[in-house]
Amino acid sequence: MTNPSEREREAASDAELLAALAQRGAPQVARLSHSPFDEGMLFEIIRRAGALQRRHARRKYLVGLERLLQRFPEAERSRDWSSGPGTSKPGQSFEFIGYRDGATLIDASPYLPSDAHASFAAYTAYLEGLGASLGFQAPGIEAISQDLAVGLRSLIKRLTKPTELRKSYLNVFFGNYRSTPFGVHVDPHHEHAFHLVLSGSKELWCWDAFELAKLAEPSQVLGSVPPSGDYSLQPLRFATEPGQVVYWPGHFAHSMVTQGPSLGVSIVLEPPELSPEQAFLSIGLADCQDTAALRLRSVARVAPRSIDDAIEIARARCRSIGGLISVGPLAELDADASVSGTVESRIDPEFPIEALELSDGELAVIANGHHFEWNDPDSKHDLRRLLDYLNGFSSSSVSQVLGRFVSARLERRDVLAILRFCTAAAAIRASAAS
Ligand SMILES: [Fe+2]
Repeated sequence: MTNPSEREREAASDAELLAALAQRGAPQVARLSHSPFDEGMLFEIIRRAGALQRRHARRKYLVGLERLLQRFPEAERSRDWSSGPGTSKPGQSFEFIGYRDGATLIDASPYLPSDAHASFAAYTAYLEGLGASLGFQAPGIEAISQDLAVGLRSLIKRLTKPTELRKSYLNVFFGNYRSTPFGVHVDPHHEHAFHLVLSGSKELWCWDAFELAKLAEPSQVLGSVPPSGDYSLQPLRFATEPGQVVYWPGHFAHSMVTQGPSLGVSIVLEPPELSPEQAFLSIGLADCQDTAALRLRSVARVAPRSIDDAIEIARARCRSIGGLISVGPLAELDADASVSGTVESRIDPEFPIEALELSDGELAVIANGHHFEWNDPDSKHDLRRLLDYLNGFSSSSVSQVLGRFVSARLERRDVLAILRFCTAAAAIRASAAS
C-alpha cells in the first residue's frame, strides 16, 4: 500500500516530470510514478457519460446547430472560431465526437459505451464486432468528473499558475481505430500536449511542422493516414505502453498509430495568447504568400476558420440531411476495391452534395451532414465538375470515374479521396469488382 505522503511525493514528482518535458521542448516518452487516471476509472466515466449521450443525443446535434445559427452572440462574430466543436469553454459541457473510417459521425451516440458493456474489454469486443474502424474523443471531459479535474490540476501544476489565463483540458481518446481518424495534423493552438496511454499500445508519429513547411509538398505528409510509410520527411516515432506518457510541443504535426483497441487521455495546454510561431501555423493568418506555408496552414485542424464560415457550414450540413439524422452502417471503399470496383449513387436528389465556397476561397464539400474541406485552389473547378457528376449519376465503375475526372490539377488520389469521403458519408455505395 502506498501511504498518503508517498502519494503526494509521487504526484509532485510527476508534475515536475511534465514541466521538465515541456521545458526541453522535444517529443519524448516518460513514465509517471503514479497516474491519477486508469482504465477502470476512465471507462466508468465514459460509460456513464456515453449512456447519457445515447439517451439524449438523437436530436441534440440539430438542436445544437440551431442554437449556433440563432443564438450566437453578435459580439463573437468577428472572432476566429478556431477551437472547434466540443472544446471546453467555461460553463459548456463536453460531448463525444465520433469518427468512422476518417469521416466525422453526425451522431456518435449509437456507438458509445453504455450499461450493456461491463468493462472496457467488453466494449472493445463490441466495437470489433461492428466490423468498422471507430474512434471517439471527448475534449473537456474533466467538466463532468471531479476526479479527472483534480488529476489534471495535479499533473499540470508546475506548468501553469492558477491565476494565468491559459486553457488546459483533458481529451479522452478511445476506439478500435488504427490511427488518429483525422490523419496527421497540427494543433497550432496547443502549446504542449501529453498523451497518457491507459490501454493498448500506441505509437506517436510526429514531424516538426516548421521542417514540413520547408518541403515543396508538405501535403504528402499532412492529412495522410499512417502508416502509409512513404513520406518525404520521415516521422519521429515513439512507441508507448500503458502507464507511459508521450509529450509533443504544439508545433509538431502528429498522429497516433495503435495496435488494436486503445484508451488514452491527452493533457492539453493552450497558451494565454498565440506566439508568432503558433500564429504562423494557425489558420487565422491568411496573408502568408508562401505556397508551402499556405498548404500547411490549410490542413491545420482549426477549421472552420470564422464564425461566418461555421454558420454557413452548419446551414449546409442541415440542408444536406434534410433535417434528419443519418446513422447506421456505411459502406466502405477500401484501397483495392477502389480501383477495380463500382460506385452507385445513394444521393437523394433533394439533398445533393454541396460545394460551399468559404471566405478564404477554399471549398467545403458537404454530404449527408458530413463535411470535408478542400484546400487546393487550383483544382476547385475540376472538383466541382466531379461533384456535379456524382449528383447526377446512377452507377459507374471507379476506373471510368478516374478516366473522366483525373486531370493535371485533380490527381487520381484526389478523385479517390472524394469517392472515399462520399462513401463514408453514405452519399455513394462502393462495391468491389464481382
Ligand atoms: Fe492532435
